Amino acid sequence: MTTFVEIRPRELKRSLYELDGISRTTIEAHYRLYQGYVAKRNEILGKLEEVDLDGANQVFSDVRALKVDLTFAVGGIKNHEVYFDHLGGEGGSPEGAFGALVERDFGSVERWRADLTASAMAGRGWAWSAYDWDEGRLFNYVGDAQNTFPVWNATPLVALDVYEHAYFLDYQTDRAAYIEAFFRNLDWTVVNGWMRSYRVPIG
Ligand SMILES: [Fe+2]
Repeated sequence: MTTFVEIRPRELKRSLYELDGISRTTIEAHYRLYQGYVAKRNEILGKLEEVDLDGANQVFSDVRALKVDLTFAVGGIKNHEVYFDHLGGEGGSPEGAFGALVERDFGSVERWRADLTASAMAGRGWAWSAYDWDEGRLFNYVGDAQNTFPVWNATPLVALDVYEHAYFLDYQTDRAAYIEAFFRNLDWTVVNGWMRSYRVPIG
């Protein structure tokens, strides 16, 4: 009996083909990686239906390999869905509810942006701006891979991919130039839509 539902990749917004400073070739290659995470998530969950649970072992076992790499695939899906969804905008300073959250929790847009940029320069794969529901505020976090350092009960509102595949074609090793381009293409309407749908309080 199958107990999981296969999922399909989300469509790529056409506006992502016309970003400022991030090429269509990069986006197309990047989207194929995302499709790969979805395919592997489905494949791994299928294999887990038939895995030998009695053979579980922390050094090596099929169940260990599948469970560990499931977190990589699922992280890859979630991270990239935030990333692709909130690109395609006009950039500039955060507006609306998210702008207010940034001002409240970082003091100014400049400090938030400097902190997120530094997080992205310090990470090996990701930097996220996420609302922590237990602390009731926004933090910038670092991720080294799709499945490293997520924080429980926090909701990512900005996801900055700094794996080389996100920028090497356009900027070679100049990650800082790519980060500038990332900020130029953020869509604050999308981020504020998440603020509403998750009911992030700013009062
Ligand atoms: Fe990526």
